[in-house]
Amino acid sequence: MDSIHIQGGKRLEGAIPISGAKNAALTLLPCALLTEDKLTLTNLPRLADVDSFGHLLNMLGVSTKVEGVKPGEFGRCMTLRAGEIASTVAPYDMVRRMRASILVLGPMLARAGESTVSLPGGCAIGDRPIDLHLQALEAMGAEIELAAGYVKATAPKGRIGGGDFSFPVVSVGATENALMAAVLAAGRSQLFNAAREPEIVDLCKLLVAMGGRIEGIGSSHLIIDGVEGLHGCTYAVMPDRIEAGSYACAAGITGGSVDLVGARPEEMLATTNALAQCGLIVEFHEAGIKVTADGGLRPLALSTAPFPGFATDMQAQFMAMLCRADGDSFLEETIFENRYMHVPELRRMGADVDVRGRSAIVRGVPRLTGAQVMATDLRASMSLILAGLAAEGETEVLRVYHLDRGYERLEEKLSAVGATIERRSAG
Ligand code: UD1
Repeated sequence: MDSIHIQGGKRLEGAIPISGAKNAALTLLPCALLTEDKLTLTNLPRLADVDSFGHLLNMLGVSTKVEGVKPGEFGRCMTLRAGEIASTVAPYDMVRRMRASILVLGPMLARAGESTVSLPGGCAIGDRPIDLHLQALEAMGAEIELAAGYVKATAPKGRIGGGDFSFPVVSVGATENALMAAVLAAGRSQLFNAAREPEIVDLCKLLVAMGGRIEGIGSSHLIIDGVEGLHGCTYAVMPDRIEAGSYACAAGITGGSVDLVGARPEEMLATTNALAQCGLIVEFHEAGIKVTADGGLRPLALSTAPFPGFATDMQAQFMAMLCRADGDSFLEETIFENRYMHVPELRRMGADVDVRGRSAIVRGVPRLTGAQVMATDLRASMSLILAGLAAEGETEVLRVYHLDRGYERLEEKLSAVGATIERRSAG
């Protein structure tokens, strides 16, 4: 298994190109199921999860072709075509490896009139139920059956009718599934308290480019008028605001200056506000966002929340950075119940963090020290990389496959701005 080795203590300086967003890619890819035409997605990040999603779509009968990958270039272009749906079953083995597989449920139901997906089960950061995905589809007329670890959604007359659903809790994935089903429904659907994350806006824009009719894009009230059919198009995946925020924290924790090329300010204001409160200089410019450390880091109080609030996917990276702040910070995790798995590992590097339920107190320490560490999820892994960049001595991060799910060519991007970081393959 690969590991990443970092010699800490280097100040990072330079430009980092921001890749296409993983979470947007994972909801744009299943849109291929909604049309028999060709869908071309550009600026797709080269990530293990994108490959896995491609394989899942292949199993359902979607042909995929990757084009335009040149050495030294980031991103790639994939052409997908679902001429016919060959199977309407997403098997356990796929869903177990990638929770986002659940996002084929809505579009497959809309296109084929039925859809069977293995239940994802729990994961490292919490229970993560899918009840809201199912309730939203039911509200649009789907019949839902649960049996033998699978959920089967059926449209009684071969096509769902559309309907209204009010989400009791804001859910990104459930909003995405509901949207992808509603665009091909026989009538109008309204989603209340829908998620407003930029990745949802990206999905809506793609659906509109394919001929979908959606009003209220960017708001929590989406009105979707189902159409008879959708057509293909070419669409560029939005930049990854979480990747950009992670590298901004790398500038902060190493006292450096990083230009996040391609990052869009309006999609990550909660992050840039928090960076500025921490004492970093944040400059918005035409090509991206430049983040520069200016003396010591100030402590913060942060609470995670749905967009436009502070993203849960940024919590672990900020915690790592705040370990080096001058004072005590207070973090609250309101979205997932088990998202402090990085804390014991950070402590092994000298961090002083106390967790009580959903809250954490992070007491700034004068130094972090390198250690062998391992993480349980993607963003937790990134927090260990960040701590390693600032730590004295060598840090070895194990279970690199978590990082490969979400950070395109991490070592290459960090080396280019002055980090001493390399991947070593064991055996
Ligand atoms: C997505 C993102 C993930 C991010 C999260 C929150 C992808 C592939 N993943 O995950 O990176 O951390 O949004 O921004 O885009 N919930 C229910 N029932 C449901 C669905 C969700 O109770 O049916 C709860 C969850 O347990 C959680 C909250 O709603 O407490 C938000 O989860 P949700 O927004 O659905 O997260 P994901 O879409 O799984």
